Amino acid sequence: MSKLEIVGLTKAYGKKIANDHINISLNCGVYGLLGPNGAGKTTLMRQIVALTKPTSGEILYDGQKIEVLDTKYRNLLGYLPQDFDAYGNFKILEFLEYMAALKDVKDSKAKINELMSLVGLQEVKGRKIAKLSGGMKRRVGIAQALLNNPKILVLDEPTAGLDPQERNRFRNMISNLGKEAIVILSTHIISDVEQVAKEIIMIKNGRVRIKASGKELLGKMAGKVFGIRVKDEEQIAEINEKYKIVNVQRGADYTNVRFISHSKPEIVDVWKEEPMFEDVYIEYFER
Ligand SMILES: Nc1ncnc2c1ncn2[C@@H]1O[C@H](COP(=O)(O)OP(=O)(O)O)[C@@H](O)[C@H]1O
Ligand SMILES: [Mg+2]
Repeated sequence: MSKLEIVGLTKAYGKKIANDHINISLNCGVYGLLGPNGAGKTTLMRQIVALTKPTSGEILYDGQKIEVLDTKYRNLLGYLPQDFDAYGNFKILEFLEYMAALKDVKDSKAKINELMSLVGLQEVKGRKIAKLSGGMKRRVGIAQALLNNPKILVLDEPTAGLDPQERNRFRNMISNLGKEAIVILSTHIISDVEQVAKEIIMIKNGRVRIKASGKELLGKMAGKVFGIRVKDEEQIAEINEKYKIVNVQRGADYTNVRFISHSKPEIVDVWKEEPMFEDVYIEYFER
């Protein structure tokens, strides 16, 4: 089974450390790269697809440096850039034919047909890319990334601009692709990856905070999530001082606060809550 190893990967832009000693190892399956804006997701992905060179550290594919493998490595890649938006004057079909020629795809007609059905673009294949909705543009971007049957598929914010239905469809598609390839997709929305990802890599300020399965992440929150019915706004402020508030639920005649505490809270009348992914997000990304 193929393996991608990222070793001590560091990328600095002047004084800004965008990736800070990242060490992760990936094999077949879907990985969710999760982090807030500016966390360093795009920077990491651009290095994985060999568009940007690391300041230090290295990336190995099956034990060999990717810059040594060079074209052999590049031929294995599929990439959807975060800012995929060019080629507005091309019609969808023309664009995919053009990309297939660039990538030297064998039997490209059949492949393009297959991909347009997969992402649901068959009906609009004659439309100009500039005229498409954001979600449709992303789908064209996903299709072009898949043209060469990549062994390493890197999707930078693939669900940006997709509506809920498109998101669902996308998740199903991705989990299939993960059976045969290393799939890395970035997002700042945890629900994009909580079900579909084999592991979630949580990144903040250029560092990997944790890499674990969804189940493991929820497990780590067990016994740390609490609820309380508060009397007034002052009490919310007090809780906010000491603990991480996940959300405040305001009903007609009550207000409940959900919060995280690593030890038993020193407040009376709290109850334990079952961990959810929202708690995981707050735990690793807030403050
Ligand atoms: N080409 C660049 N020049 C200078 N700073 C950059 C450049 N690209 C990214 N950065 C900075 O690096 C950090 C990480 O950015 P990025 O990788 O785009 O994060 P994300 O994709 O998680 O939003 C940000 O602070 C960003 O401003
Ligand atoms: Mg980004």
